[in-house]
Amino acid sequence: MPADLLLGRLPLFPLTTEVELADGVPHLTIAGCNLGQLADQYGTPLYIYDRLTLDTAVGDYRLALARYYPGASGLTYAGKAYLCLAIAQWTQRQGLWLDCTGASELAVAAKAGVALPNILVHGVNKSTTDVHAALKLAGVIVVDNLEEMGFLSSLFLKTSGPFPDLWLRLRPGLAVETHPFTQTGQVDSKFGMSYEEAQQAVEICLRDGLSLTGLHFHQGSHFHDPTPIAPALDFALDFIVAMRKAADWLPQTLCPGGGWGAAYHEDELPHPSIEKYVQFVSERLAQGCFERGLSLPRLQLEPGRSLMARAGVALYRVGVVKRTPHRQWLLLDGGLADNPRPALYGARYSALPVVGPDRPVTAPAWLGGPYCESGDVLIEDLLMPDIKPGDLLAIPVCGAYQLSMSSNYNGACKPAVLWLDDGTARLIQRRETSADLLMRDLPLP
Ligand code: LLP
Repeated sequence: MPADLLLGRLPLFPLTTEVELADGVPHLTIAGCNLGQLADQYGTPLYIYDRLTLDTAVGDYRLALARYYPGASGLTYAGKAYLCLAIAQWTQRQGLWLDCTGASELAVAAKAGVALPNILVHGVNKSTTDVHAALKLAGVIVVDNLEEMGFLSSLFLKTSGPFPDLWLRLRPGLAVETHPFTQTGQVDSKFGMSYEEAQQAVEICLRDGLSLTGLHFHQGSHFHDPTPIAPALDFALDFIVAMRKAADWLPQTLCPGGGWGAAYHEDELPHPSIEKYVQFVSERLAQGCFERGLSLPRLQLEPGRSLMARAGVALYRVGVVKRTPHRQWLLLDGGLADNPRPALYGARYSALPVVGPDRPVTAPAWLGGPYCESGDVLIEDLLMPDIKPGDLLAIPVCGAYQLSMSSNYNGACKPAVLWLDDGTARLIQRRETSADLLMRDLPLP
């Protein structure tokens, strides 16, 4: 691979990635761990997370909030990007709140010992089970709609014990620029409440004595331009001004969601700047409050992808190299089942061979998976060196919305996951087995 191509792709990988000689041959290493050895030991597909890259992203957010937002602030990790016991524990070591969607994510948070005030619950159509789990385990429930508002209120009026704080999710009527499947703020989005509905929700909370402490909106995921957040902040602040006047209500916290994007392919580098995004939101919010004579709310950001994506790498072994009239196929042992993003959103990824990543490029390749679906193609038309069956490939920027959206299509077993930290690799999620899959099944009489 020409030096510039290797150098062009390396910045997609975690911060600790290096090319090091092992037995005289260059190998990719992450956090000082040889990826080839990890693949031999744990099998493939294998996902790894680099601790330093995760911590650095949190640090970038914190630094920018401290620099640009004059009021109190905090970070919530959107667990939907990827959650397991170890990641939930990591959020607590980093002092993050954890956003859980539904009872099962809440169970992970509880098992990891996440304290109640640090757990926030989202959901557009929370089931009764979800709501009851949230009442037991969460410090904040973000109310999505009036139906839910009424249900929560009726439960509150029947309870004498502690009850979570509530936030309202507004639908600002404006999405960010991203794939249509990941837009959420638009007028006809299924998420959140209109101005009038949110107004009614405030009235219900005040009438029934619920603790309504926050206002939330989220306009979509994987955007690179924060501009549409400004009118949404105006919308939220105007709502606050109106509620202050009508009901003497002010939220302590304002959360404009998450959604900051990541670079997945060398064409998309450099990585979108967390600092620029935080600066934009902070300055617009502070200015909007100043213009309306509002005191600064606590600013709570809710990132998922921009914390996790770059820290994760997926390792696959090539089984078959197949030539068709116009393509060279590298058929991998994973694909659509562990990463549906190319099929769902046309997401573009890149790759490097683990051994000899500096080899000269020979031809474009199509990286396909083993599943019975023509859409099971992870990467199209990527310049690669000569790859042989048995070679290992590393795909960067695999830390968000892959494992959490993975499936068991064709009986695929979910990959093992490793935590890499300063020369050590620790298994944080074992590979799923066929026995795991069979555990739910019951025979006919
Ligand atoms: N807050 C709320 C209310 C959300 O719905 C989401 C993401 C986030 C925060 C975090 O957004 P992030 O910072 O991770 O972009 N499956 C899609 C992404 C769906 C995002 C869903 N909500 C993908 O693979 O691109």
